[in-house]
Amino acid sequence: PETITIQELANRMAERAVDVIKLLMQQGQMLKINDVIDADTAEIIATEMGHTVKRVSEADVEEGLYGADDDPADLKPRPPVVTIMGHVDHGKTSLLDAIREANVVSGEAGGITQHIGAYQAKAPDGQVITFIDTPGHEAFTSMRARGAKVTDLVVLVVAADDGVMPQTVEAINHARAAEVPIIVAINKIDKPEADPSRVRNDLLRQDIVVESMGGDTLEVEVSALKHLNLEKLLEAIQLQAEVLELTANPDRPAEGIVIEAKLDKGRGPVATVLVQRGTLNVGDILVCGAEPGKVRALVDDHGRSIQSAGPATPVEVLGLDGTPEAGDRFAVVDSDARAREISDYRQRKKRERLQARGGGAKTSLEQMMS
Ligand code: GTP
Ligand code: MG
Repeated sequence: PETITIQELANRMAERAVDVIKLLMQQGQMLKINDVIDADTAEIIATEMGHTVKRVSEADVEEGLYGADDDPADLKPRPPVVTIMGHVDHGKTSLLDAIREANVVSGEAGGITQHIGAYQAKAPDGQVITFIDTPGHEAFTSMRARGAKVTDLVVLVVAADDGVMPQTVEAINHARAAEVPIIVAINKIDKPEADPSRVRNDLLRQDIVVESMGGDTLEVEVSALKHLNLEKLLEAIQLQAEVLELTANPDRPAEGIVIEAKLDKGRGPVATVLVQRGTLNVGDILVCGAEPGKVRALVDDHGRSIQSAGPATPVEVLGLDGTPEAGDRFAVVDSDARAREISDYRQRKKRERLQARGGGAKTSLEQMMS
């Protein structure tokens, strides 16, 4: 049942908690400031104190934000979103850097110096691929826990001199739980002690049968250090992506997910988001996690200022009121008022989550007083 603490109820009405307690006392209830009351009692108290009660459920607030499916006729092809996973030190970041470096037109401004959590590269056929560089598995886990499907493909990096390790297995389990196909990148094959066949056998023990052993999991031997077979890896991704026939509707208000976010001294809150459907434009009003905002600028993975970002595009968003969290979802809404309403609601949810975690009263109130 929905409950609320007396303190929280008083806060929402901008009344003193002691007055709420007095009223409850008059009704025969002896309660303290941190005690909880049910929503019906809260409504009676609020009404008696002259407030209008508006009960809002989660569905009401979030309605239309993520729900409605797109008309199949509006769907257009989009780039695949690829997450690189694997054991510590097996070369995930090196591989991403190598792919990006190989892709960066020489002399291009920005180069690879800027390190953001997501960027795009081109496959040999010119198809764009979006890569997400997850720092460990945490972001991925938190996104999945929230039911957000972020990635279409996982590139599992396994070092040929080390073989399958605990976090390799963890990554395999993540990919399986998310029902996402795996492409294996056997890395560090430049090393004298590299033993790719051991990696294949290790994988077999995890029920992953690679192509060269008669299975259907694509595998590519690479060296991030020596830039060996990077094109082959991109081709494998491209091939796997074609099978998936990935589409999205670009012609609707944008929705997506926060890859990472930080408070920048000069620029204020900056969120790197992945647009999942629709197109995000400068000037759009949005809610990002619990933070409302208006897009002041969009910055692409090369540090360039852009006007809009379509499906599967990673982009930095400037103009948020606060800093959201990795894994938060964002959506463009049609007015400031709507943005505030959703933001208020989510801020409250967040506070309640924190309170519950802090061992305080468990409040799951879905009620707004105005
Ligand atoms: P974490 O983010 O800490 O999990 O590591 P990572 O998987 O991102 O590995 P990273 O790219 O940081 O590489 C770890 C070490 O392996 C670095 O010293 C790299 O230089 C080295 N390394 C990466 N790829 C290769 C490769 O293809 N060959 C050789 N010889 N060394 C490599
Ligand atoms: Mg790394």
